[in-house]
Formats: sequence, structure tokens, C-alpha cells
Amino acid sequence: MRMWPCLSIDFTFSDFLFGARRCLSRRTNEPIPIHFESEAERTFLTLSVRAAFDLYLVARNYSPQDECIFVGINVPEMVAIARLHGLTVKAVDIDPLSTEICLEQLKARLTSCTRFVLVPHLFGARVDLRGLSSIAQQRGIDVIEDCAQAYSGRSWSGSPTTTASLFSFGPMKTATALQGGIAVVRDPQLRESMQSILASYPPQPTWRYFARLCRFTLLARFSNPWLYGIVVAVFVRCGIDHEALIHRATRSANIVLTGLHRQRPCEALQCMVRRKLTTGNAHFEKRREAGCLLHSALSQSLRIPQRDHHQSAFWVVPVLSHDVDSLKHRLRLAGFDALSSRLVSVGCSEIEGATELAQAVLLPFAPAMPREELVRLGKLVSKIEASIGES
Ligand SMILES: Cc1ncc(COP(=O)(O)O)c(C=O)c1O
Repeated sequence: MRMWPCLSIDFTFSDFLFGARRCLSRRTNEPIPIHFESEAERTFLTLSVRAAFDLYLVARNYSPQDECIFVGINVPEMVAIARLHGLTVKAVDIDPLSTEICLEQLKARLTSCTRFVLVPHLFGARVDLRGLSSIAQQRGIDVIEDCAQAYSGRSWSGSPTTTASLFSFGPMKTATALQGGIAVVRDPQLRESMQSILASYPPQPTWRYFARLCRFTLLARFSNPWLYGIVVAVFVRCGIDHEALIHRATRSANIVLTGLHRQRPCEALQCMVRRKLTTGNAHFEKRREAGCLLHSALSQSLRIPQRDHHQSAFWVVPVLSHDVDSLKHRLRLAGFDALSSRLVSVGCSEIEGATELAQAVLLPFAPAMPREELVRLGKLVSKIEASIGES
């Protein structure tokens, strides 16, 4: 049976050939310029957002009694990195629908030990950070903007009021290079310090990146809905939890635990990120059009985070469900493989909005899906949620 995967890998066979050629060609050891349209001189490449965040913490060298604040939800590894550096991590809630930050709660959480606030732009939509930045500026603390899910082309390089903006080119991201992070650091001293620490790291072995190219190019073939449907059917038959398997296979390995994040990106990865940075606007526009169509097919009574958000890049399309398991099960029966996200909230009290958002169901979504399938999906979700609500 045909089944649409939740996310497909945005990487073509021609990207693979380009990357493979770069891996096999002789190294020039020339610096490869990688930057956004603006803030060129403030930008540098790391292995991932997690590696860039670790680099920030190494450069700042905070002391063990220091604290930081994580806004909303994030991948568990980002929280783990802050804790590995000995920091106490506090949480601040967000609204589960608008994803706006509870600034009153933020003010209440700040102490003289708070050193920075880390705030993500979730699911591809940007939140306005001016309020948060002004509070942080008054208190003299950094704002680290996690743009891992929000890359939408090289014309937007993050919010100018933040200390640093971190972008991910990891395997499941739009315009992926299968690895890589771009850090835009606006504090000149901090940037210099991060760049000199990065320059002291050993280079990433090219064969590692080549192995990645092969693995994910193979996995990308399974985005075909017919092939994907067969594979999922086999897993279900064998009693294998395919959702856990997909998360394991597509997640970037926890390089922080192995120490491999403290490396400089190899030349082939630098070339690939540069290639992906020049992906034209049409690519992102197509994604936005498909996302808007899916949103319009979803009933107004549904709880859709960031609905009508003007600046969404539609990395994924989340829905807040009354019964997550039932929605996922019934969508699968109809050929749509909706999944839960890997995002978690930090802490557990007074962060109900973030906790609810962490339970969001991600609908299968790709610009390559035919319009009628996107509309069928939207109507089906509306129907299932209505029937769950009644029962
Ligand atoms: C919100 C958020 N932050 C950070 C990351 C980590 O990005 P990377 O894989 O580039 O380290 C991710 C990855 O999915 C993410 O979604």
C-alpha cells in the first residue's frame, strides 16, 4: 500500500554526486566562503547546531553555579550539552498555539546567575524576539537563537537583536547538506574566541562525511510512498516499532557523547553547505505553497500550532490532538505516516504549553505530495479529530 512518510530527505542524487566528487578530489586547504546574504563576516560553519552550541559554551567558559534558560521545547541533546557544561537549566513556557514566549515567566526565572536564554523557532515558523532581547539586554545576558528548524534560504540570517543565531543543515532539514551548522555570531569578541577554538580542532575525516552521503542517499530512496508503504507494512508484520526505528535512523548521532563534535568540517561538507546555501527561493516557495494548502484543508476547529503564521517556512506541519495514538493509527490506515516529534520540554512544572506542544503529531508533508493528497490528508485529520472529540 502507498504511504506518505512524515518527512522526506531533501537531498537529490545530483547532490550525492556533487558530494562524492568533492570527497574524492584533492584538498585545496583554501578557506571556502560560506555566508548569508547579510552578515557575511559574522558567519562560520560548524559540524552541527549542537557543535556550535558546545563551541559557544566552551568559549564562554561559564562556572558551575551559572544558570541558563531554555524556552519552550528542544531536542534532548541541546539540554544535555548545557548540563554537560555544568549549567543549571531552567525552563520558560510558550503558548502551544502561537508558540509565543511567556515573558512574565521569563522575568521571574532570571537571577543574577543567569547567563543566557536559548530560544528555538519551532516547526519552521519564526517568533518575534524583540521583547525577549530587550529584557536580556537590560540584564546583560546572551540570547542564543536556535534556528535549526527555521532555515528558509540565505536571505534571512536570524534576528539582529540576538547574540548568535544557529542554523542546521542536518539530514532532515530543508535544503539539507546531511550535516553542518552555520553560526552567525554578532558579538565580535565571542565570535573571535569561538572561531579560534574551532580552528584548534582537528579536521573531520572526509571518509566520515562520505559514509554519511552514502547512508542518507540510500535512506532518501525510501521517501517514495510505494517503497515506504512496503517497508512499513513489513515492520508492522514483524512487530517492529517503525516510528522508533525512523527516529533512530534519521537523527544525527549523539556526537557530543563521543566527542566527535569537536572537529572542523571537512572541505567536502563545506562545499555542500555552500551549494545548499544557494538553493533558490523557488524551493522554499513551493514548500510554503504546499503548507498553506494543507493548512487550508484542516478544519478551523482543529488546534494547529502557528496557523496563519506569516513567516512560516513549513519545515513540518504539527497538530495538537485529543488522542495522539488514535490519530496516528487512523492516518496510517489511510496511507499517511504521521509521527510524534523528538522535542521535549525542560522541567515539568508551570510549562503546560510546552509540554502540550511536545505531544504534537507531525503530519506527513512534502512539496512533492500531489495537491489532492494534501487536501485528502487535511480533510481526514479534521474528520478523525471530530470523531475523537465526540467519543
Ligand atoms: C530545535 C532544534 N535544535 C537543535 C537541533 C540540533 O541540530 P543539529 O542536528 O544540527 O545539531 C535540532 C535538530 O533537529 C532541532 O530541531
